Amino acid sequence: MTTGHVFIATSLDGFIARRDDDLDWLMKHSTEGEDHGFVAMMASVDGLIMGKGTFQQVLSFEQGWPYEKPVVVMSRSLREKDIPDHLSGRVRLSDATPKVLMNQLNTEGWNRAYVDGEKVIQSFLAEGLIEDILLTRIPILIGEGLSLFGPVPHDIDLEHLETQSFPSGMVSSKYRVIREL
Ligand SMILES: NC(=O)c1ccc[n+]([C@@H]2O[C@H](COP(=O)([O-])OP(=O)(O)OC[C@H]3O[C@@H](n4cnc5c(N)ncnc54)[C@H](OP(=O)(O)O)[C@@H]3O)[C@@H](O)[C@H]2O)c1
Repeated sequence: MTTGHVFIATSLDGFIARRDDDLDWLMKHSTEGEDHGFVAMMASVDGLIMGKGTFQQVLSFEQGWPYEKPVVVMSRSLREKDIPDHLSGRVRLSDATPKVLMNQLNTEGWNRAYVDGEKVIQSFLAEGLIEDILLTRIPILIGEGLSLFGPVPHDIDLEHLETQSFPSGMVSSKYRVIREL
């Protein structure tokens, strides 16, 4: 089965974006010379799975589309016409459930998927489809916004694997999700 992997940044109070999706607080600190593991993460996966909200946010980035690997956008409302022409063949839509999608990707040869987006991460976690989480905390409190972790159907135990701090004040921690056998 394809495994899901999360690589994400939150404010110290646990938000991944402001309520209006603004990420200004995320870009505030100089991180020159710091390696937070993004390149290694991208090299380790066969592609990305993201929610509609994250897809729309990434589309608005001034620097353009940042991913070389294939991207699956989970959405029940988007249609093919909503995918810009320049991303044709690189981005596809899926309205499958998380488990069905992971099975499909498995048959296509995906071993590891980068899972991104608030709601999509929460639903993959709830279904036991996430193997590990690399969480980078930004030294800022923003008070309110989109919370990375929401309600869970049951406790999800995590094993702390490592923590690294950076001159910028960012702190990255890696956790493995402990699955019940
Ligand atoms: N700080 C960071 O590192 C970071 C990383 C990623 C994203 N973000 C931010 O997070 C925000 C996007 O989050 P979001 O709340 O919009 O969540 P999201 O997970 O990106 O998108 C959620 C949408 O995906 C669709 N979807 C389809 N299947 C789903 C499923 N099984 N479970 C959940 N959603 C499913 C739904 O849209 P339909 O109605 O079309 O089905 C749902 O509304 C953006 O502001 C983005 O910038 C921040």
